Amino acid sequence: MGGNGRLRSAVPCLPAEGAAEALRARLEGLFSRGRGLAAFSGDALVGYLAGYPVPAHFGEAGGVHIPLHGHARAAGYGPGFVLSLYDRAAASWVRDGLLSHTVTAYAHDAPLIEAWFRNGFGMRCADAMRAVPASATEAEAPPGARIAPARAEHAEVLAPLHRAHNEFYRRSPLFMNHPDEDPAAEFVEWIHDGARREWAAFRGDAPVAFLRVGTTAENFASSLDSVRNIQGLYVDPSARGRGIARALVDAAFAWCARSGVPLLGVDYETLNRPAASLWEDRFEVYTRSLARRVDERVRAYAGLEPE
Ligand SMILES: CC(C)(COP(=O)(O)OP(=O)(O)OC[C@H]1O[C@@H](n2cnc3c(N)ncnc32)[C@H](O)[C@@H]1OP(=O)(O)O)[C@@H](O)C(=O)NCCC(=O)NCCS
Repeated sequence: MGGNGRLRSAVPCLPAEGAAEALRARLEGLFSRGRGLAAFSGDALVGYLAGYPVPAHFGEAGGVHIPLHGHARAAGYGPGFVLSLYDRAAASWVRDGLLSHTVTAYAHDAPLIEAWFRNGFGMRCADAMRAVPASATEAEAPPGARIAPARAEHAEVLAPLHRAHNEFYRRSPLFMNHPDEDPAAEFVEWIHDGARREWAAFRGDAPVAFLRVGTTAENFASSLDSVRNIQGLYVDPSARGRGIARALVDAAFAWCARSGVPLLGVDYETLNRPAASLWEDRFEVYTRSLARRVDERVRAYAGLEPE
């Protein structure tokens, strides 16, 4: 079995249609605008590692993101080989002030993920996907709640929830940089695109939760036409723990089934434990993203390359 066949059997949820073309286009972009290196044995390419410079990556310092398609190794080459490519690439990144390094890897490649952990990386995010069951139907909303599609005219009534969702990411333990936005204007702009949907859960007339589905994607697989992605979910703290998030996810699956969308994906912070538990229960995790921050003071030293 070739590399593609091995990957497909390890990660059956990945879309097949158009994947090779999407991957090729991303690789062309990465190899022309990214930074990294390739390894050859004679004339044969046996591996590569490359990432995109990011101006402010987990803080004010620049960094490099190595995407899912940004590293590969030929059969017979192990995780240590990938890390040896990183050692060399990182020296030049750090010299240029690119200090936060992130990498996305296939979740099933446990030895590689373990190798990144042993080399100073910690887990931050994951991507998950699930085939939409053809029979997916709307779930009953939990007692006392009602679920309905959100429309542009709901912008003002949903604004407090949308604002709370944005502010949630700033708090412990996520501590993410989420700038202020005008939630009503952002929602009107967002829902304007017919490929996007949002559902809200109401208690009486008061909205207590929403879930969004759109096409924005984190990697080449989730960007394919056959995939829609969950792009926001928030349940008011007073309404949590009663199955509202589950019912909203069911509404998204039912809409995908009606619309002929075969796959539903989600990306999430693994340090957001309640949400991670929901996604890992309902979806198949296929990537893990890891991050490392290098001490900027080492830039004062000469000779950063590995010995
Ligand atoms: C995550 C969140 C959406 C869950 O909403 P909810 O309506 O309370 O969830 P539900 O009652 O439908 O529970 C669904 C599943 O979520 C997980 N979950 C929910 N709360 C949890 C908690 N406090 N701890 C661990 N798992 C939890 C469980 O897997 C649960 O399934 P179970 O009831 O069978 O154990 C809600 O806590 C929230 O809005 N958090 C802040 C915003 C957020 O994290 N959004 C997701 C961004 S990716």
